Amino acid sequence: MILVTGAAGFIGSKVTKQFIAAGYKTITIDNLSTGLLENIPKDTIFIEGSCGNKSTIEKLNDYPIAGIIHIAGQSSGEVSFEDPQYDLESNTLSTLLLLDFAKKRNIKRFVFASTMSVYGDVSKLPVEESTIPEPKSFYACGKLASESYLRVYAGLGIETYSLRLFNVYGPGQNLENLKQGMLSIYLAQALHNDEIIVKGSGDRFRDFVYIDDVVEAFKIAYFNSYQGFDIFNVCNGYPITVDSMIAKIFKNLNYTKPVTFSNNTLGDQNGIYGSNEKIMTNLGWIPKVNFEDGLQSMIEWGLSK
Ligand SMILES: NC(=O)c1ccc[n+]([C@@H]2O[C@H](COP(=O)([O-])OP(=O)(O)OC[C@H]3O[C@@H](n4cnc5c(N)ncnc54)[C@H](O)[C@@H]3O)[C@@H](O)[C@H]2O)c1
Repeated sequence: MILVTGAAGFIGSKVTKQFIAAGYKTITIDNLSTGLLENIPKDTIFIEGSCGNKSTIEKLNDYPIAGIIHIAGQSSGEVSFEDPQYDLESNTLSTLLLLDFAKKRNIKRFVFASTMSVYGDVSKLPVEESTIPEPKSFYACGKLASESYLRVYAGLGIETYSLRLFNVYGPGQNLENLKQGMLSIYLAQALHNDEIIVKGSGDRFRDFVYIDDVVEAFKIAYFNSYQGFDIFNVCNGYPITVDSMIAKIFKNLNYTKPVTFSNNTLGDQNGIYGSNEKIMTNLGWIPKVNFEDGLQSMIEWGLSK
């Protein structure tokens, strides 16, 4: 049985579905803070509660868990400034408690959903895993601290991988939540509002990676025979600016709406894209969906909702 935390969310639900399709039994913990009950695949055992809560983690003792994929977490840089303590519980304490559980239960395999936010603003692009991280938000601090716990627990015998996800997008992303995601925020506004409000400049850029490629990265990382601790960027390897993304959304929808620019959110990064050479060379992962195709699939899904 595999524990995939956060199965009510965008990424966790899709990762869980893939393991179920491959014949595995799955269990999840989710506090339904941003996730939806209906996203949790039917065959998954569901424990409602926070991964940052010891008594919730103790409920896992009843199950024969062989490996852990820790995806649950508060996922917004903006929200991390509103409630840093919740962010710490959700993104760091949760990792520590789950690693401690893994150690006690002799669970050897632990894959973690980290983020490109740990890098902060980088001068040398594309950013490689060896770049010294300079987090700009509490969210990024918490994820980076989690990675340090993974490194320490690897020394205690747990095989730990951290996947630094860049901007994940695709069908199933929450179009109601305007505080996390980037493409999803602009698409939601393009579909449902009179105008698009952009917090920050249009020449900021990001590296977008399609949900199916991300799910594949978790699968490959989980089944790879490795020892110790390692970190991998999960990205497409090229930048897309905010301006061009919005233009592509309009082109796909065949209409435009006014675009208004306001101040950046706290801790926002200016521009980042990653090198995916390490994950391609070491794990054999290859991103299959380019931005144009992925965007079209997401828009078709958004229109059908
Ligand atoms: N979507 C992205 O672009 C992206 C990029 C980098 C990293 N990540 C990371 O990937 C993970 C999943 O992101 P997502 O886009 O699917 O977000 P999401 O909000 O859709 O999913 C997160 C899930 O975790 C649950 N959750 C949050 N805090 C929890 C807690 N303390 N205990 C139990 N459950 C909790 C939520 O209810 C939700 O179901 C997050 O850890 C996020 O930081 C996402």
